[in-house]
Amino acid sequence: MSITKKLITWYSKNKRDLPWRETTDPFKIWLSEIIMQQTRIEQGTSYYLKFVDEFASVEELAIAPEDKIMRMWQGLGYYSRARNLHAAARQIKNQYEGQFPVSYKELIKLKGVGDYTAAAIASITNNEAVPAVDGNVKRVIARLFDIRDDISTAKTYNTIKNISAQLITKDDPGTFNQALMDFGALRCTPKNPKCTDCPLSEHCLAMQSGMVQELPVKYNRTKKKYRYFNFLILELKNGKQDFFYILQRTEKDIWNRLFQFPLIESEQLLKENALIKELSKRIPDAEAGELTISRQYKHLLSHQIIFAQFIRIRLKNEPQKIPSQWIKIPKHKIVDYGIPRLIDQYLKTEYF
Ligand code: ADE
Ligand code: SF4
Repeated sequence: MSITKKLITWYSKNKRDLPWRETTDPFKIWLSEIIMQQTRIEQGTSYYLKFVDEFASVEELAIAPEDKIMRMWQGLGYYSRARNLHAAARQIKNQYEGQFPVSYKELIKLKGVGDYTAAAIASITNNEAVPAVDGNVKRVIARLFDIRDDISTAKTYNTIKNISAQLITKDDPGTFNQALMDFGALRCTPKNPKCTDCPLSEHCLAMQSGMVQELPVKYNRTKKKYRYFNFLILELKNGKQDFFYILQRTEKDIWNRLFQFPLIESEQLLKENALIKELSKRIPDAEAGELTISRQYKHLLSHQIIFAQFIRIRLKNEPQKIPSQWIKIPKHKIVDYGIPRLIDQYLKTEYF
């Protein structure tokens, strides 16, 4: 039996029971694929269900306010995906009269839809025999064909795509693509792949050459950047209400346009004295009262490691000269703003 047949047989018995596998509605398939990029299935599934529950069609998503989408996306990370999602929905509403495109050729024009996503959607919803190559597929093919080139280059990507294009079935390409993904996620896993009794082991060149543990090869791992964030929570009591200041991030850095507390970035996390000094530099007329420093948080992003602490400072007066981007809000209103997961974690575990 061929690799393809064995893989599909394996899939029919072992496939994951995922909510978007019950539909061929391109809107839902697209949502699932965008949400699942860089996200574990266990984490992404609840977001998928939330989105399809909230938006019955791509048009509803297109007319939703961006704030709402950002709030719903909160915790998933890679926030540009959420903005692209919204932009693509508007593209479909305006250019395709709300008809979701299903061909690879049209899908690839959508914002946030790259080669993998276009291939996944076209194969699942339109039976196009285009290989969808994600991280799981790369690993499985690299092992099956003992490919020792750097897995992260465009050249290797094309090699793998060409191999997958030879294996894909014209009958049911969507099933083939998803079978490869599930095989990578469940059996041919990054660590400790289950090679004993693997249905593909007799085809597996890495198995024969003893290279399974070494593959896929990843050279030039870029070194992660370390950053140190001191967030200032400047608290103000005004009558019965408690306020603090927040501001919106710009587009240039991480957490694109999410909201945060005033931030001092430094070479290492700052101690109390340095913090007070920085505060008086920023708002000279602030009179600081009680000050509490949170535990230190370590937050991993794809290319950065953020160390963070939150400094709660009670203000004795309302400063008059605050930076123009700062907004004073009642504390409980923070739920109306899209904030990074790190800040959300802190607020939930230590603040409220
Ligand atoms: N990851 C993202 N999309 C997927 C799919 N359709 N099947 C399996 N894993 C996936
Ligand atoms: Fe993957 Fe091991 Fe099966 Fe080869 S034998 S396909 S490395 S699980």
